[in-house]
Amino acid sequence: MNRLECSYAGLKLKSPLTAASSPLTADIAHLKALEEAGIGAVVLKSVFEEQIESESKAALDGLSGGGFADSSVYFENFIKNTAVDASLELLEEAKKTLSIPVFASLNCVRDGSWYEYAKRAENVGADALELNLFILPSDVKDSSVDLEHRYLQILKKTVQSVSIPVCVKLGTYFTGMTHFLKEVSGCGVKGIVLFNRYYNIDFDIEAEKVVPAAPFSSPDEYLTTLRWIALSAAELPVDFAAATGIHSAETVFKMIAAGAKTVQLCSVLMKDGIKAAEQMRSDLLTLMDRKGCTSISDFCGKMAQERSSDPSVYERVQYIQFLSGSSRQ
Ligand SMILES: Cc1cc2nc3c(=O)[nH]c(=O)nc-3n(C[C@H](O)[C@H](O)[C@H](O)COP(=O)(O)O)c2cc1C
Repeated sequence: MNRLECSYAGLKLKSPLTAASSPLTADIAHLKALEEAGIGAVVLKSVFEEQIESESKAALDGLSGGGFADSSVYFENFIKNTAVDASLELLEEAKKTLSIPVFASLNCVRDGSWYEYAKRAENVGADALELNLFILPSDVKDSSVDLEHRYLQILKKTVQSVSIPVCVKLGTYFTGMTHFLKEVSGCGVKGIVLFNRYYNIDFDIEAEKVVPAAPFSSPDEYLTTLRWIALSAAELPVDFAAATGIHSAETVFKMIAAGAKTVQLCSVLMKDGIKAAEQMRSDLLTLMDRKGCTSISDFCGKMAQERSSDPSVYERVQYIQFLSGSSRQ
């Protein structure tokens, strides 16, 4: 019996440890290594709406003055299709090579022709589609209601475009988090990934330049995800996958106890190598033994807020007690 068997978004998985969308899921050699390391499912590197557009623009700029102006629509479509074709080829190869579920991944920020990509990914055999959906709320004209409406429209349209399960990976920038998650689950998505961790900028104060921040999470970055999974997963009719800062079997155990069906790994595998997944799998089994759990369902959701005798502790956010000294006793 496989004690790590679980399900997510209607799919059966041999392990809750899954590979998040990243450069590690962008080629077949790494994908095979992930499966061999016991990973339960892979989310392929996202096709970026932005990337498709910038590739089209760069190529079209290169053609300027060459008398190709009338052909711009043709070239734009040609290049767009090339970027999409490469990702669909990887998907097709992954489906032929791997026996674990393969999620196609699409990054999108607005309504667009990429619904066709969703359909094509389904036709090539994707087991599910994960939308990496993020609109940076930086425009003063956009209210939170407008932004949430955009998210929900995109999700509804995507769910209608395909018959495979659609999941969405979200960030933390929502005001009414649990209400929004309820609306998201009402769109027909089968899985919600909390939370994405975005590319950040930093400042080089000597050169007075904007520079990329360190790309990887640290092992203590899981706490925001833990709280929101614990607050939401048991309450909503949708599966949750936990992401960000998951670097150890203990954190995996916590996320599942909070109610997550699976966890997504990225930084730990990129920093320590794919072999880290084998170690986490073995550590998780040891931890389950110690806790007397024979299966994932034995502890999934056991520590969700809904099942707690003291639900208010999940909502505590201020340090009043800690600072008053009572916690030092
Ligand atoms: C170098 C790098 C590339 C990434 N590319 C993608 C991507 O294409 N699509 C996506 O949804 N997330 C992408 N992510 C985010 C990861 O999938 C993951 O959600 C995030 O890193 C948090 O997990 P972690 O703490 O385990 O790293 C990327 C992360 C890194 C570090």
